[in-house]
Amino acid sequence: MPSFIYILLTRPFITAVKGSKRVAALFLALSLSACATQSGDASLYQSLGEEAGIKNIVARLIYEIGDDPVIRPYFEETDLDRFHEKLSEQICEVSGGPCEYSGDSMVDVHTKMNVSESDFNRLVDLLITAMNHYKIPHPVQNQLLARLTPMRKDIIYK
Ligand code: HEM
Repeated sequence: MPSFIYILLTRPFITAVKGSKRVAALFLALSLSACATQSGDASLYQSLGEEAGIKNIVARLIYEIGDDPVIRPYFEETDLDRFHEKLSEQICEVSGGPCEYSGDSMVDVHTKMNVSESDFNRLVDLLITAMNHYKIPHPVQNQLLARLTPMRKDIIYK
């Protein structure tokens, strides 16, 4: 894959670790995404605080969404209990935890929202803010982002 595509895919990791560490963060993200597997790595799940920790992070994300004038309107009609449950389940699964995502496909869920690239990045930034709130170390954050951001192609401009 050409390197500029890697750079586009890995942009959120760069925002997670700011400043002069940008280049190092990019290489870290590249090696992490190369190694990342969808399951079988319980350590990421554990580093996120297992089920309770993940549920807290998602609850905080919902709080941040409620506080964000750009992202909040997308969620005006949303059943937030369901969103909390399904996103927690998805993060549990992709981080190697003992869960199976039971929600709808990313394409189905986000179709007709016409999510822009900048709004996608903004929501990822809110997730980073939520993880910072719980003092999740940046390398752990980057590992989770490496597993979520490949979904962007199923989410933006649908
Ligand atoms: C990596 C990024 C993202 C992931 C992993 C993700 C994941 C999810 C999941 C798991 C659900 C619940 C599915 C279900 O109810 O079955 C959901 C719903 C939703 N997502 Fe996303 N999402 C992402 C990005 C975004 C972005 C950028 C926006 C808008 C700016 C967005 C807006 C929504 C909305 C509004 C719902 C609720 C839909 C409804 O009310 O039925 N998502 N998302």
